Amino acid sequence: MISVAIAGAAGRMGKLLVKNVVEDEDLELKQVFDITRVGEDAGEIAGVGKTDVKISDNINELNSDVLIDFTIAEAAVKNIKVASEKGVKLVVGTTGFSDEQWKEIETAIKVPAVISPNFSIGVNLFWKTLEFVTPYLLSYDVEILELHHRFKRDAPSGTAIKAANVIKKIFEEKGIKRELRFERSGISPRGDEIGVFGIRGGDVVGEHTVFFLGDGERLEITHRAGSRQAFASGAIKAVKWIAGVDEPGIYTMDNVLGF
Ligand SMILES: NC(=O)c1ccc[n+]([C@@H]2O[C@H](COP(=O)([O-])OP(=O)(O)OC[C@H]3O[C@@H](n4cnc5c(N)ncnc54)[C@H](O)[C@@H]3O)[C@@H](O)[C@H]2O)c1
Repeated sequence: MISVAIAGAAGRMGKLLVKNVVEDEDLELKQVFDITRVGEDAGEIAGVGKTDVKISDNINELNSDVLIDFTIAEAAVKNIKVASEKGVKLVVGTTGFSDEQWKEIETAIKVPAVISPNFSIGVNLFWKTLEFVTPYLLSYDVEILELHHRFKRDAPSGTAIKAANVIKKIFEEKGIKRELRFERSGISPRGDEIGVFGIRGGDVVGEHTVFFLGDGERLEITHRAGSRQAFASGAIKAVKWIAGVDEPGIYTMDNVLGF
């Protein structure tokens, strides 16, 4: 049995993860953390009945095998540091880290950790597909568009930024410079760039399209998430995988899925 703690347990992803952990016979829901709904039963919040696991706002109480973190960047950095100090393995889905926060995380990690801006299998194959097609489309312009629900805080999405970096790296390996560009207004001619833009509204779970725009044609590669269960299933897979890893370090879903 793998004991699991969830940070952000009162959030959209957190509640779904509580449900997934409670319903999985290999996992035990041991601790839940959030800054809202403190003292409430995690199972009742998630709609799966009483679990007797109550929301705490004190991450220093952490003592589970694996901590799953779906919070906000600032909180995740702190939670990663505490988990590292206590030897608790990590599965981190939080997005929106600044370069500085990433450096802090890389320095702090002393446990095995899967960190991914997107845990869905489809999105991980979407990134792989970009690796496959980009070398054949080096003369094409590349733009990325993402759509998310009205409550998403960070923009562009971590998934879109990773897609842009996958493409940028391939261009760079071929000696071609491409900067990421996050906004355009006024007089803004196209430069050596990959545009990354976000749309926010409604209840869109998450959609990403990469446009390869050439003369006389364009190729669009799209992933659409229809439900957050796609992310939750991947995160649960990552929990089970990381529980069997002893070597500290940052792993990705490529490692979990065996790509
Ligand atoms: N990697 C993936 O596959 C994936 C998928 C969906 C969402 N996300 C990311 O996961 C994060 C959460 O998304 P969401 O839609 O569930 O957001 P949400 O706003 O519904 O939930 C976030 C929760 O974190 C809690 N929180 C904030 N600060 C905290 C702290 N210091 N300690 C403990 N809890 C704290 C909030 O109270 C809230 O309940 C976002 O960064 C989002 O982009 C990643």
